[in-house]
Amino acid sequence: MNYRHGYHAGNFADVLKHTALCELLRLLTAKDKKLFVLDTHAGAGGYDLAGNLARRTGEAEAGVARLAVAPRTGMPAAVARYLAAVAAYDRKFGPAGGQPRRYPGSPRLVRAGLRPGDRFVACELHPEEALALKREFAGDRAVEVRQADGYKVLKALLPPVERRGLVLIDPPFEATDEYEKLLRALRQGVRRFATGCYAVWYPIKDEMAAAFARDLAAFRPLVLELRLGGIAPGKLAACGLAVINPPWRFEEAMREALPWVAARLGPGVTWVVDAAPATPAAPAPSG
Ligand SMILES: C[S@@+](CC[C@H](N)C(=O)[O-])C[C@H]1O[C@@H](n2cnc3c(N)ncnc32)[C@H](O)[C@@H]1O
Repeated sequence: MNYRHGYHAGNFADVLKHTALCELLRLLTAKDKKLFVLDTHAGAGGYDLAGNLARRTGEAEAGVARLAVAPRTGMPAAVARYLAAVAAYDRKFGPAGGQPRRYPGSPRLVRAGLRPGDRFVACELHPEEALALKREFAGDRAVEVRQADGYKVLKALLPPVERRGLVLIDPPFEATDEYEKLLRALRQGVRRFATGCYAVWYPIKDEMAAAFARDLAAFRPLVLELRLGGIAPGKLAACGLAVINPPWRFEEAMREALPWVAARLGPGVTWVVDAAPATPAAPAPSG
């Protein structure tokens, strides 16, 4: 396990995943019923964008930083809410404004969207990242951090007693069997908890990833994708988020958000919002 999210925090992939995550939480907490949230691959919880890891790649500068300095006029509501959550986290470490210096990972964004009585379990397998995550939420009884395999926890905790839930699955895709493991866990999860909302992040980088995206179609997700133009070989240039059982109005919010995000990320960036997985041959409808 070599992956450290600190190298990638706040990049275009996080922008896609976290904008969607904030909107999913907002819509799922609109009803006066308790919600269960599981983050199977939670990471460290928060990241220093001025630190060594982030500075070495500069990915946040080409991601969230471009959005943070964009004029607010015409900004889609979902993006404005995501950036407000980023700024609120950043403000805890000093005066906010302009480009963020600290970036909230998925568990922090989930935590910000929870109501009293909602339940949240965040899993992280890597010992150092898990320790950082435990520190991030030390003394916060609303968050249960487990140093554990997120796939096993998914199997153990579904269906939740709340009967309403959001499961974020965001693995590093380092190992070649990750696709298989993820699909197996997702099938088990959906079998146990068919009405749950599942958000699955995936890279779009090679034929294996393309086959995986096609396999996800069996779950009939709403597919969100961002594709960068002119990226150096070996760097991630495209990614997706497949959302199974999205709440009402989520698609509408993403149709408004993604074109704006793509335009701010830079020239040649394209987007997809589709009720069926896009393949390189048939992306539709997109910008
Ligand atoms: C892409 S990062 C997570 C980023 C985080 N979800 C966010 O959006 O801020 C993936 C994380 O999964 C962890 N990981 C790898 N295999 C795991 C497993 N089987 N169970 C739980 N965590 C795992 C890695 O150590 C890494 O921190």
